[in-house]
Amino acid sequence: MPARGLCRLTCPGCSREFDEQTTDSSCRDCGSLLNLIVENPDAADVLARRFDDRRGTMRGVFASGVWRYRELVVPTFSDQQIVSYPEGNTPLIGNPRIAAWTGVERLMIKHEGLNPTGSFKDRGMTVAISQAKRTGARAVACASTGNTSASLAAYAALAGLPGVVLVPAGKISTGKLAQTVAHGALTLAVRGDFDVCLALLRQASDALGVYMVNSVNPFRLAGQRTIVFEMLHQLEWAAPDWIVLPAGNLGNTSAFGAALEVARAVGLIDRIPRIAAIQASGAAPFAAAFADGFRTHPTVQPETIATAIRIGAPASWDRAINAIRGTNGVVAAVTDDEILEAKMIVDAAGVGCEPASAASIAGLRQLVARGVIGKSEHVVAVLTGHVLKDPGIIVERGRPPIEIDPTLAALETALRAQ
Ligand code: F0G
Repeated sequence: MPARGLCRLTCPGCSREFDEQTTDSSCRDCGSLLNLIVENPDAADVLARRFDDRRGTMRGVFASGVWRYRELVVPTFSDQQIVSYPEGNTPLIGNPRIAAWTGVERLMIKHEGLNPTGSFKDRGMTVAISQAKRTGARAVACASTGNTSASLAAYAALAGLPGVVLVPAGKISTGKLAQTVAHGALTLAVRGDFDVCLALLRQASDALGVYMVNSVNPFRLAGQRTIVFEMLHQLEWAAPDWIVLPAGNLGNTSAFGAALEVARAVGLIDRIPRIAAIQASGAAPFAAAFADGFRTHPTVQPETIATAIRIGAPASWDRAINAIRGTNGVVAAVTDDEILEAKMIVDAAGVGCEPASAASIAGLRQLVARGVIGKSEHVVAVLTGHVLKDPGIIVERGRPPIEIDPTLAALETALRAQ
């Protein structure tokens, strides 16, 4: 049975309303990206109790850390329409070593790399692919720096739909490419960066009649809101002071802003944490715009070792501005060296993440050093992807394995040399 409540799609540009069954991501009149708005009739205490009860469920849609919050995601799907792995249920980790390195006393890490395909993308993909199924899509497609494509490939396979992905040739990590190919998506390596792939797909999806599940898709972002809902639930609805996350195409930043607004509007939290969105300095148009009071809208030729966020013309620009303004947030940029140093700390602490994810830890350290985030403030940093996503960089930069003869003497020599 669907949950109680309504789901509306509206254009923030011209206020046009769209049918919930639409497969459009943007308004045909004014071009703005559509917003998905949920209307929920239940009081906060009723919702909170229901979410608690569902947390004990081990099977069915409520075993998912996305659909547990279905009233606040899309209330109108029936159980049968939902394509779920299940996903979500990622831990909130306390790690004193990582906290000490960043300089804050109270740090929790929300590890979204522990989703089924190893990134937060699964939370949005379960909703977008369910919508694809509900609307009878022939095929699903995305442009991607690798994680969305891995997730799309898996969820398209779960749903029995053909999947098509456009990735920047030579600029996607081995782990992500392997997943995409393994799950059987048609993988097109485009000679161009992510921005080129996305522009091409936006042209093609209309012409070819495929359903686009990039984070411009409002259903994707509705699913990604549950990173915040689940985190707040884990904190027993005591909002932290800050949420720090890496930012590329700005889908997640937008989703976090919307989620916090929803959580406060329904009364689950009584104050809104500040968002800190962290870009890689070689792909930081949003950080540049923030520094300029969002008066400008620059694009850049992106370059960074954090290939997941190697994006120069982020698509969810306007709604990410709303998220930063609505939460009194900040945007910062960190260098590749800072990202790699943070990744080393996270990996060595036993937590592990891919380079783009480490941007949030590097950014947190920078913001504490700059006095933007106070040492005693309560911070949640989001890690977005699994350490195995980018094995290349580890092989390149990590301590290489030492090959030895199978003898006790050789083993002793190797141990003594450390
Ligand atoms: N972290 C990781 C691991 C990502 O894969 C991405 C985006 C981001 C952060 C940034 O999130 O785009 O919502 O600001 N990856 C996309 C992809 C672009 O195609 O997998 P964003």
